[in-house]
Amino acid sequence: MKVTLAIPLFLATAALAAPVTEPALDPIDIEAIADLETRQFSSGTTSNEFTSGGCRDVIFFFARGSTEAGNMGTVIGPPLAGNLKSTLGASSVAVQGIDYPAAISTNLLPGGADRNGIATMKSLLEQAASQCPNSKLVAGGYSQGAALTHRAIENLSDAVKAKIVGVVTFGDTQNLQDRGQIPNFPKDKVKIFCAAGDLVCSGSLTITAAHLSYTRNAGEAADFLVGKIRG
Ligand SMILES: *[C@@H]1O[C@H](CO)[C@@H](O)[C@H](O)[C@H]1NC(C)=O
Repeated sequence: MKVTLAIPLFLATAALAAPVTEPALDPIDIEAIADLETRQFSSGTTSNEFTSGGCRDVIFFFARGSTEAGNMGTVIGPPLAGNLKSTLGASSVAVQGIDYPAAISTNLLPGGADRNGIATMKSLLEQAASQCPNSKLVAGGYSQGAALTHRAIENLSDAVKAKIVGVVTFGDTQNLQDRGQIPNFPKDKVKIFCAAGDLVCSGSLTITAAHLSYTRNAGEAADFLVGKIRG
């Protein structure tokens, strides 16, 4: 197996999942935070609009790929989130990255993803479903983050799964293993983006140029999720 991702980036990314607390903010504070985070978001690789701002009409949970920066990465997380916000309105969408180390080594675990990251994503989805009864949840992940998305969603209760209206994955390391779907979850709610020549989609962990090409799918992926949100 050949893994050619940038090791120094991974070593610099030691942020571990922080405990999530429900903030008690009045609406004015939430607006202020939303405005501030929208500005930060446009140039940043980290977004915590659910854990720091609470419920919005739509909550988007995203897990980045191995060695990517922040909790959203750069390849597809921020551009996809930006498209959702520009279509639905910045203050209608809470963008929440999944804090996990995104080490290369955890790709080799059973299920293909960091165990704490899976638990973090699963509990954030459960928390949003129970605390935000009027919100629609959408989720996505890139590379190891796609594996994390499979593993987090497949073991959710039916009630929480019902709140998740759409899921997109990119360069999905579990595409072959899970036969092009997320186990125990409706296939029509999921769109898996696998570029021609991206070998991780066929069970390898060899990184080719195609694996880094998913920025171009941000518009199509947002359209898919918006269709599910509006549907
Ligand atoms: C999670 O779901 C998978 C099937 O997709 C199953 O094999 C596994 O045992 C489940 N894990 C738990 C902890 O329920």
